[in-house]
Amino acid sequence: MGYVGHRPALEVVLGGLRRMEYRGYDSAGVAVLDGAGSLTVERKAGRLANLEGRLDETGRDRFRGTAGMGHTRWATHGAPIDRNSHPHRDTTKRVAVVHNGIIENFAALRAELEADGVELTSDTDSETAAHLIARAYADGPTAGDLPASVRTVCRRLDGAFTLVVAHADEPDLIVAARRSSPLVVGVGDGETFVASDVAAFIEHTREAVELGQDQLVTITRDGYEVTDFAGEPAQAKPFTVAWDLSAAEKGGHDYFMLKEIDEQPEALANTLRGHFDRGRIILDEQRLSDQDLRDVDKVFVVACGTAYHSGLIAKYAIEHWTRLPVEVELASEFRYRDPVLDRDTLVVAISQSGETADTLEAVRHARAQKARVLAICNTNGAQIPRESDAVLYTHAGPEVGVAATKTFLAQVAANYLVGLALAQARGTKYPDEVAREFAELEAMPAAVQKALSTVEQVRELGRKLADAKALLFLGRHVGFPVALEGALKLKELAYMHAEGFAAGELKHGPIALIEEGLPVVVVMPSPKGRAVLHAKMVSNISEIQARGARTIVIAEEGDDTVRPYADELVEIPAVPTLLQPLVSSVPLQVLAAEIARARGYDVDKPRNLAKSVTVE
Ligand code: AGP
Repeated sequence: MGYVGHRPALEVVLGGLRRMEYRGYDSAGVAVLDGAGSLTVERKAGRLANLEGRLDETGRDRFRGTAGMGHTRWATHGAPIDRNSHPHRDTTKRVAVVHNGIIENFAALRAELEADGVELTSDTDSETAAHLIARAYADGPTAGDLPASVRTVCRRLDGAFTLVVAHADEPDLIVAARRSSPLVVGVGDGETFVASDVAAFIEHTREAVELGQDQLVTITRDGYEVTDFAGEPAQAKPFTVAWDLSAAEKGGHDYFMLKEIDEQPEALANTLRGHFDRGRIILDEQRLSDQDLRDVDKVFVVACGTAYHSGLIAKYAIEHWTRLPVEVELASEFRYRDPVLDRDTLVVAISQSGETADTLEAVRHARAQKARVLAICNTNGAQIPRESDAVLYTHAGPEVGVAATKTFLAQVAANYLVGLALAQARGTKYPDEVAREFAELEAMPAAVQKALSTVEQVRELGRKLADAKALLFLGRHVGFPVALEGALKLKELAYMHAEGFAAGELKHGPIALIEEGLPVVVVMPSPKGRAVLHAKMVSNISEIQARGARTIVIAEEGDDTVRPYADELVEIPAVPTLLQPLVSSVPLQVLAAEIARARGYDVDKPRNLAKSVTVE
């Protein structure tokens, strides 16, 4: 956030960071402009309390001035340590920048700066912006003009960013800019704010202005001025925040989980961003060469809970794309079954927290057997990535709700990236085929956005099912892990008995459970993708309907053949077979959350659970 007004900037900024800490707490930092042309900065790894402790030690009275900025970090590039914490400064320490997002072309920018003799002090992408802005301000066509200097740099950045910038020579203004990352302005009486989220300033003002794509704002105590990146005046949309502080943190939702369900398109887009470059899939800190990937003769996926379900989905894609055998194993079972592993086995460890003890122990076991381990993780610098050979980070952002939603979809997408990287290295898919699969993946955030249009219908259904004593979920092929995930959501949120089945298994016993009125959720395969599976699922539905089940069918829009069999039909966008879990999971998340809410439970903090299970 940034502030220019009449109050001590340090306290205003710290208060705002406190209200945004749920967005990320790997590190925190502040910068304050005092009227005498100096810029005072403090930053610290860990939670905001660590920074406040550091400020108490070093003295807060150093921070005089009524203009400043601050940042709580959710690490994407560079471990969560002090020197990677924001604000980042240029060499002269007269420019401070905080950044949310991912600057995709930061490597080239770093190389350019280093070639000019600039010594960078962090591993982050964000630091490059501080140096570039300082150079643009120091000389050249935008010298002495901070907004113009920031615009010049924004035009050079690829990727997603919200930048907030201060310069010691400009004590009465702060500049901020955004592309594909949130930024709002708060308009107070003799004071103005910028922040990623209205929660940062809502206690001071509810008058806000939403900035559009590729817009830059200059704030002073008298107000704000918006331009596009070319410097032309731009219109930004004023609005009054209707929420109270607590709701503001949840984006106006009653629960973080509901907000996180809404954030899934962005989580997917951010996870995919930057992983396809010049016709090739590129993974993150990958310390596995193409030759290493070619040497792989077997893949094990190990994970727990929802992450395990994402692994089950991955199996279908990775086997289909690479022709490699893929075993998916519960991390808590993995090392006790004495699995057959060797140096040509690739173990993919999936964990959003990166701290799950069962998965961590599985990683250690795999490495002891000389297998190579690739971690898929949503938490930069967590234990599991640290102990793995390679890491592919998901960029779902912090997930506060205990029930995994956006991190699950991000894991599924990351698994597909691993599958495509293996197929690419092994030549089981030609470059044009890899490009086509990636293009289909890139279309998924929009498809998930469309799937979110079923939310009201599903919430109403959830309220009607709140008193059901059990719910069954059926799926086939990639829909089977979706059925398992839908059941898990319901168990952990509504404390209701729920079970997912492979639909073909029904007649081998579970059909005995079907009785009059029992709700059964059916995840329909696409009629186009795998017609044979679709036909078999239709007969499964008629079998259970004949025995009185209440069928809730999740089906591709336009799949009219299922209408006679659906007591309730939820339509999702038509997508390629292997990608359907990304859209079919959404209504199941909403259903579970709404039944829990109808039952009066705390959707974000279900009983007996924790967000990260760090005990075996
Ligand atoms: C999912 O909603 C649960 N919160 C739980 O099953 C979770 O997926 C599991 O504990 C694994 O957590 P991780 O991804 O942090 O390893």
